[in-house]
Amino acid sequence: MTVLYDNIGELVTNDPSQGDGSALGIHKNGAIVVDGDRVAWVGPSESAPAAEHRMDCGSRSVIPGFVDSHAHLVFAGDRSAEFAARMSGEQYDGGGIATTVSATRAAGDAALAANLARLAGELTRSGVTTFETKSGYGLTVPDELRSLEIAARATPETTFLGAHVVPAEYKDRRDDYVSLVAGDMLTACAPHARWIDVFCDRGAFDVDETRTILKAGADAGLGLRMHASQLGPGKGIQLAVELGAASVDHCTFADDNDLEALAAGTTVATLVPGAEFSTRAQWPDGRRFVEAGATIALATDCNPGTSYTTSMPFCIALAVRDMHLTPAEALRAATAGGAAALRRDDIGVLAPGMRADFAMLNAPSYIHLAYRPGVPIIDSVVVGGAPNEGK
Ligand code: NIG
Ligand code: FE
Repeated sequence: MTVLYDNIGELVTNDPSQGDGSALGIHKNGAIVVDGDRVAWVGPSESAPAAEHRMDCGSRSVIPGFVDSHAHLVFAGDRSAEFAARMSGEQYDGGGIATTVSATRAAGDAALAANLARLAGELTRSGVTTFETKSGYGLTVPDELRSLEIAARATPETTFLGAHVVPAEYKDRRDDYVSLVAGDMLTACAPHARWIDVFCDRGAFDVDETRTILKAGADAGLGLRMHASQLGPGKGIQLAVELGAASVDHCTFADDNDLEALAAGTTVATLVPGAEFSTRAQWPDGRRFVEAGATIALATDCNPGTSYTTSMPFCIALAVRDMHLTPAEALRAATAGGAAALRRDDIGVLAPGMRADFAMLNAPSYIHLAYRPGVPIIDSVVVGGAPNEGK
């Protein structure tokens, strides 16, 4: 079936060969033809080919669907009291992860799957058409395994994060835990994961432990990702680049050497402003990343501790206001940037042959994503060519 979406007031394609020739490739009064789950044609409305069905977009803006390359959606429990304590001056040090680990271990599979489905629906309604999700709140072989089995029913972008923190029962024998993660836990989880991630930071895993675990993951056929330099400076970002990780995430404390390494390497720097917001941390300066020549992505990092948001428009608004990205840079980072962080070449851009994943805004321009923070600006979402209400 072919569908023509026309009368799009502002169509963002992310294809610089389209429209105004900017990085966003914008057509004023644009149109898209969708054939099945793919884009068949993109261009100005007046030269659009005929299709079996027609949708008049009423001069609204259409953007590529958001690609959320970093989320932790398999968990149980609530940590709102921890958030309130932080807003009264407590510092985030990762200690609250243990609270979620206990609640997750105690939860049944159905409850974990229902919570994930609820959050996935929220993501869709916020314009996200592809999302990644991690394990990391089980931290035993069976609990990590079931976390990934549940995740894999919701998305192909699944990440094994057995190395989130060392669980309490391994407190005095952390080497044994590293061996477990890089050994039996990895063996059990790898068939259900596309990626492996390590939280390489103060109070989590050091660079040597991270290297051991990621190398084992690579040997098991998984792609590499990292959490690094969220809680303090360190060598994690440079390790991610050295190992050819697809993405290194947070980068709150990135220094000039880190930026130089990112610019020279193939690793995407994924910024997660929801985490700085919710931990009241310092803001990494997005401008420095752009000016250094690093590829950046924006992600929600949705998790019950540091960033309990599923709203990509909110993250875009924060990135513009507090990380000093332009609205255009922030939108590109949340779409094509996320696709690069997941090493996907079929999403993030609206061009013939790409997946037909896009969102229509209740607004004449994508700039309203940051200009109208907190407003439900996503009108409707198309995923793989089909309208999706995120129910
Ligand atoms: O991305 N930094 C590590 N992991 C999560 C937070 C986990 C939690 O506090 O539950 C993050 O911020
Ligand atoms: Fe995270």
